[in-house]
Amino acid sequence: MTQVYFNGRWVAPEQAQVSVFDRGFLFGDGVYEVIPVFAGRSFGLMEHIDRLGRSLAAIDIREPLERHEWIAIIERLVRDCPSPDVSIYIQVTRGTAPKRDHAYPNPPVAATVLASASPMAALSETIRREGARAITVPDLRWARCDIKSVNLLPNIMARQQAVAAGASEAILVRDGMALEGAASNLFAVIDGALHTAPLGPHILGGITRQKLLEMLRAQGQLAVVESAIPLDRLFDASEVFVTSSTRDLLPITRIDERPVGDGRIGPVWTTLNRDFQQMKTEQVV
Ligand SMILES: Cc1ncc(COP(=O)(O)O)c(C=O)c1O
Repeated sequence: MTQVYFNGRWVAPEQAQVSVFDRGFLFGDGVYEVIPVFAGRSFGLMEHIDRLGRSLAAIDIREPLERHEWIAIIERLVRDCPSPDVSIYIQVTRGTAPKRDHAYPNPPVAATVLASASPMAALSETIRREGARAITVPDLRWARCDIKSVNLLPNIMARQQAVAAGASEAILVRDGMALEGAASNLFAVIDGALHTAPLGPHILGGITRQKLLEMLRAQGQLAVVESAIPLDRLFDASEVFVTSSTRDLLPITRIDERPVGDGRIGPVWTTLNRDFQQMKTEQVV
């Protein structure tokens, strides 16, 4: 079994044990990152480390490691993982305080740091051929969705509702606006332009989203509208897809039992996905 990095040591996963007073365990007082690795090489590594830094800064946790140390840990995890396509998981919590108290421990305690690797799950043949299903659910999350916090209960409940309905993702709707997926960003082709919610406190700024938008800006062919998508317009979209580090660009062909467009994987997704895969092979480090 591949070892995990835990508080400065490399240990078997079952030996990486947090205290019952760890603030991540007690309060969900921590943040995380997921970094994709394809054919043994990471994609968007610097962007992911930057986002981890922003999440930590947003909740006043001092970054426990420097950039070169994160990179060395990730490189070792990739080297040790038997699978070529790997998902790297990093979690940092505020650490273990002597007593349970909502306020930050004073003086501060050492952060708890975990980094592990697991093989990336492949999409099913049916989804590759026919696209995936999604459901819409009310967005029950808080007002700082831009922080990649380990408080994922509303996301978990939404994703579980999707799974129970035989769908792959739940699209979160706040005030009539379709914002993003339970663990993905949302894109819709409406009147020939690609719509996605803008960065801000209501979505997580996905690295896949960022990379896709950079690619589209460089290509200068497809118009991009960064504006939240009203739910009725989502149902009018000719194509819908969601993006994430572990699922790339995932085409959605049914939402709440209604077909998206003609119900089949569309030409915009097909072209973008081809170009994105190409970019990935060029940009991985
Ligand atoms: C709520 C949410 N939005 C968007 C994303 C996509 O982010 P990324 O492309 O960085 O994986 C995730 C990924 O987990 C997420 O949890």
